[in-house]
Amino acid sequence: MAEKPWNGRFVQATDTSVEAFTASHAYDRRLYPYDIAGSIAHSKMLAKVGVISDAEAAQLVEGLATVKGELDRGTFAFDDGLEDIHMHIEARLLDVAGTVAHKLHTARSRNDQVALDVRMYLRDETRRLIGLLHALRRVLVDLAAAHPDVVMPGYTHTQRAQPVLLAHHLMAYYEMFSRDQARFADCLGRINVMPLGAAALAGTTYPIDRAYVARLLDFPQVSDNSMDAVSDRDFALEFLSAASICMVHLSRLSEELVLWSTAEFGFITLSDAFATGSSIMPQKKNPDIPEIVRGKTGRVFGSLMALLTLMKSLPMAYNRDMQEDKEPLFDTVDTIAACLQINVQMIPRITINRDRMRQAASVGFLNATDMADYLVGKGMPFRQAHACVGKAVAYALSKGSELHELSVDELRQFASPVEDDLFDQLTVEHMVDRRRSQGGTAAANVRAAIAKAREVLAEDEEQLVRGNGRSRSNTPTNHST
Ligand code: ARG
Repeated sequence: MAEKPWNGRFVQATDTSVEAFTASHAYDRRLYPYDIAGSIAHSKMLAKVGVISDAEAAQLVEGLATVKGELDRGTFAFDDGLEDIHMHIEARLLDVAGTVAHKLHTARSRNDQVALDVRMYLRDETRRLIGLLHALRRVLVDLAAAHPDVVMPGYTHTQRAQPVLLAHHLMAYYEMFSRDQARFADCLGRINVMPLGAAALAGTTYPIDRAYVARLLDFPQVSDNSMDAVSDRDFALEFLSAASICMVHLSRLSEELVLWSTAEFGFITLSDAFATGSSIMPQKKNPDIPEIVRGKTGRVFGSLMALLTLMKSLPMAYNRDMQEDKEPLFDTVDTIAACLQINVQMIPRITINRDRMRQAASVGFLNATDMADYLVGKGMPFRQAHACVGKAVAYALSKGSELHELSVDELRQFASPVEDDLFDQLTVEHMVDRRRSQGGTAAANVRAAIAKAREVLAEDEEQLVRGNGRSRSNTPTNHST
């Protein structure tokens, strides 16, 4: 069994149950590419400032590359006795590079090392999620653009309220996911801070060059306080908060897709390729994808709660509790990436049942507000108009008909200004089209919103290609303008 780097003061061997209990390599091994990149940068910096020789740095760098090769190929042997990925890599470096490996940890602690690794990992994953959110926004805009004139009932309290364009409804999700993307981009700025050089907690006596390490690892900033650097996990909390909010949006969308694909709604048909069947009921086609996305929301919230609870009573600086930060973080990254990815694939293959949607928008008194507005146009105060139309609705209900199916004479019993020109205003197209207030569902508004979204997405794409994750739609101010 490998010698523990910290066992100088120990006279008894670690109990194997303790090794198993404290080991984290089963999950933190996913940090290895970052751990090795960080160690390579640290070695180069130690040589640059003269703490080790250039030849020693070269040996370390070569040895680390060899170890990385073993990890990449999956031939690396893990051992509970070595706790975590950091100690595994250092121990293996000793085998492949010889005793020069003993110099790697000069001016460094696992506390700043793990902080660096997690930040580098999360920086990459946040950029990947930003790309996935961009892709999701694009498929939503494309679906909206492909159905510019489909009318559906808009709901409040899950009761039919007023007609809206399907495209307007879809663009509401575009807005939510744009804000989610902006939140991740904003969070990325605080993830992207280089903690190495904080050492255990107090900094180090060696003449290290932190700015040089930051340049090598492409960090725009180094941390300003060594104690904060090793004990701060705000960046992970922010990430989990952004992820939780994004899952709320994915879950709401999922809930609607589940409802809309029921026989009762029949608004959409999911592609066979993105649905599953029942093992007992031959007729079933189930919306399992949106159901699972909705279901996975809970574990992301759970991860946020786990990390908030983990951090809330920790005295400064590093505490081993913080090893527990990784599993919720990793699980959240995997979960949200999978949920975004599957939606990007599924949404373009949804069939819109436009007749069902239109039919649903035509019954259930969705034109009651418009009749009241008509009366206001004839000079009646809105509250009075509301009351008159309410009475007309009650009368129509008792007859089993809609407002627009009543005659002018019948309607005049409740609202004397009614004339023939009312009926034009009660069609779904007319109702949608009259809602031209900024942000309203009128077709011209929705067309403009789609055109603007396409512009923003194209600009975004350029930024994403340049790789910095920042873009017009990522800047929070975008949505207030
Ligand atoms: N595996 C540890 C973690 O993830 C690394 C840091 C350990 N530091 C220590 N002083 N024991 O937090």
